[in-house]
Amino acid sequence: MIKVRNQVFHLGTRDTSYIFRVMESGHLEHLYYGRKVAEEGNMEAMFEKQTFIPGNCNGYSDDYKQLTLEDICLEMSSYGKGDIREPFVHVVHEDGSSTSDFLYDSHLVLQGKHELETMPSSYDEHGNAQQLKIVLKDKEYGLTLIIYYHVFEDCDVITRSATLTNDSNEPVQVKRLLSLQLDMEPEEYVFTTFRGAWAREMRKCETVLQPGKYVNASYTGTTSSRANNFVMLTKCGTTEDFGDCFGFHLIYSGNHYEMAEVSSFGKLRISTGINPDGFSWLLEPGETFETPEAAVAYSHLGCNGMSQHMHDFVRQHIVRGYWKEKERPVLLNSWEAAYFNINENKLLDLARAGKNAGIELFVMDDGWFGERNDDTSSLGDWQENAKKIPDGLDGFSERLKEMGLDFGIWVEPEMVNVKSHLYEEHPEWVLEIPKKPHSEGRNQRILDLTQEEVQEFIIETVSNILDSADISYVKWDMNRTFTDVFSKHLPKERQGEVVHRYYMGLYRCMKELTEKYPEVLFEGCAAGGNRFDLGILCYFPQIWASDDTDALCRSEMQTNYSYGYPMSVVSAHVSGCPNHQTLRRTPLETRFHVAAFGVCGYECNFSDMKKEELEAVKVQIALYKHWREVLQFGRFYRGESHSGLISSYQGALAQNRENERSWTCVSQDQKKAVGMKFQTLAIPNTMFATYKPKGLNPQFTYHFSNRNLKYNVKNFGDLVNTASPIHIKPDSIVHNLVAKFVKMDGETEDYVASGDQLMYAGVKLRQAFAGTGYNDQIRFYPDFASRMYFMEVEE
Ligand code: GLA
Repeated sequence: MIKVRNQVFHLGTRDTSYIFRVMESGHLEHLYYGRKVAEEGNMEAMFEKQTFIPGNCNGYSDDYKQLTLEDICLEMSSYGKGDIREPFVHVVHEDGSSTSDFLYDSHLVLQGKHELETMPSSYDEHGNAQQLKIVLKDKEYGLTLIIYYHVFEDCDVITRSATLTNDSNEPVQVKRLLSLQLDMEPEEYVFTTFRGAWAREMRKCETVLQPGKYVNASYTGTTSSRANNFVMLTKCGTTEDFGDCFGFHLIYSGNHYEMAEVSSFGKLRISTGINPDGFSWLLEPGETFETPEAAVAYSHLGCNGMSQHMHDFVRQHIVRGYWKEKERPVLLNSWEAAYFNINENKLLDLARAGKNAGIELFVMDDGWFGERNDDTSSLGDWQENAKKIPDGLDGFSERLKEMGLDFGIWVEPEMVNVKSHLYEEHPEWVLEIPKKPHSEGRNQRILDLTQEEVQEFIIETVSNILDSADISYVKWDMNRTFTDVFSKHLPKERQGEVVHRYYMGLYRCMKELTEKYPEVLFEGCAAGGNRFDLGILCYFPQIWASDDTDALCRSEMQTNYSYGYPMSVVSAHVSGCPNHQTLRRTPLETRFHVAAFGVCGYECNFSDMKKEELEAVKVQIALYKHWREVLQFGRFYRGESHSGLISSYQGALAQNRENERSWTCVSQDQKKAVGMKFQTLAIPNTMFATYKPKGLNPQFTYHFSNRNLKYNVKNFGDLVNTASPIHIKPDSIVHNLVAKFVKMDGETEDYVASGDQLMYAGVKLRQAFAGTGYNDQIRFYPDFASRMYFMEVEE
């Protein structure tokens, strides 16, 4: 609900309030963002009371001599009038000056969500969102800046975007125009960012803010695995379930910028938007530039509280179309099973084994087109290789259909190899600097999507592939970061626009293709999670989270993705052992338990798997299908915090805590839930553990049970001799025979308890093996062990 009284604006969601006002000078003073407060009164208590200029700060103007912009919370800042913190907007005017002064002109409140014109943005199909449009003008230079706020009451999210219009007769250079600025009172804050690299996306990095600036940004031409554009701010001491937490998203896939600055007076400024580094935009008279939309959520119920709001927002107001609320198929992907070495027979064998195990969709990854036998050639030549796929995509998809499988395909349409017909025919379509050496990435170059002709080519190419066979899924990959950024079709004064124009072009392609093929399930991918963001999710309902499929790494990564993203958008696969990225050996069941909390698929060589393993996979897939709706669309909660900064837990068993991860996913009606507990390394003589689910209904009564597993005797090595009547030599024929016919029972957990008992008191789990004390009810819990738990309301 948006309320405006005496030029005070109160943006209220269900549980939060965002308040600002127009000052007498015409600037916008930010007053408050946090827990919901009453609408009553004139809010004067929240105003900054300025009656003199401190020290050597600058007075704003002759009319407002007592006002300094340096030490006041503002909704929007520019250079040159006394605010020396990071500006929201920086324009170089025709006279060379960088000073701007945008003052309140008018406002408008509208019902409904108004989508952006040049980029994807959030939407509201029920028309409940409200818009506040604040018009600011710089009268000296004839520029109009409009800030758009949208209030999503139901999920406690507020979004912001801006436009700048050149109403003067002279062109200007826009050096920066951000999406969000949030100024806050002095407090001790932790700024959390999610950084990494290829195959190790989303490491959680926490910084206690000190005076100065901390920047999280990308300059890779993508959101980047180096620094995701979702960031968090928490008050010191905040945990997963208690304390103030703010989450910030940018609905954008290009170079982004998130900055936290603590001023000399202790006030905090958070800014998010397009990275100003390397960016500039020539704005001719009459033209408008539009920024991406930024979203912010707040909760006083810790990081889980904020995540719940963001999950709702992404699920309800970002992901759209046919797949929005539709259960995603269990797929088998050929990449880690065969890499480039594919052919129809091999793939059909793999698909058959998949079908027997319960797979629903078979995905042919890279290697099917042109002369693509490795990554040095053929991107751009999107015709199937007749030697590998003799009956064409159509014939191949027919074979799969006969087996009862859907067909999915890998493409990387934004790219071209120099070794390709496309490059030979259209060198002018490529982002590179003419006659200058190029810094290559994965032997490929980037097509110049700023050009309409290239956008048409991409739309046509993908359409041709999709029209040529019955294809129900597309993995849309993008495997390099930008270098030598230069469009041969833009003049020199517009080269700073290339990356942003690229994304405008890409979004156009994605929009047209997803509208043309609404039932095709598109999955985003960029060398794993190099472009994991809400811009992509406006078109593709899920994204491949990382090329690292190691269960241990994934347990951390998926935990960290969950701060900003619901699990229904995080694609996760069970892969082979040892793992191809880490060579780590983790149990097949743990690999499944971790992948099952994302959009679960498989990516390993079923054709070479032991019968016993395939049987296990079959059971997993059946179980996943049974619980799929809860896992894909339930409410996801993280267990204990893992941060030294947000958890002060110390003591002898602190190591245990660090070692564990626990998740709960609860159906929307709270009648069903699935939980998981995961351990990194076994610590001897630590046999007791409690599992505390979250998000249950305290009043409901649940049947709690665990996933009953059986274990291979060989897991106990020569300890088998402590139980065996005859001596068994490890790895001997007898040992293998015993292992084949005797399976050791795992523990059973079976209780009936109320939701409040389960959540607050927890379930004391059976004793784990602790270097001693084996019996048929112990929890077999070695390195990388995990358990899945189920909760169902007793009807
Ligand atoms: C990228 C993707 C992988 C795979 C390969 C194919 O690395 O992230 O999943 O598709 O490309 O070349």
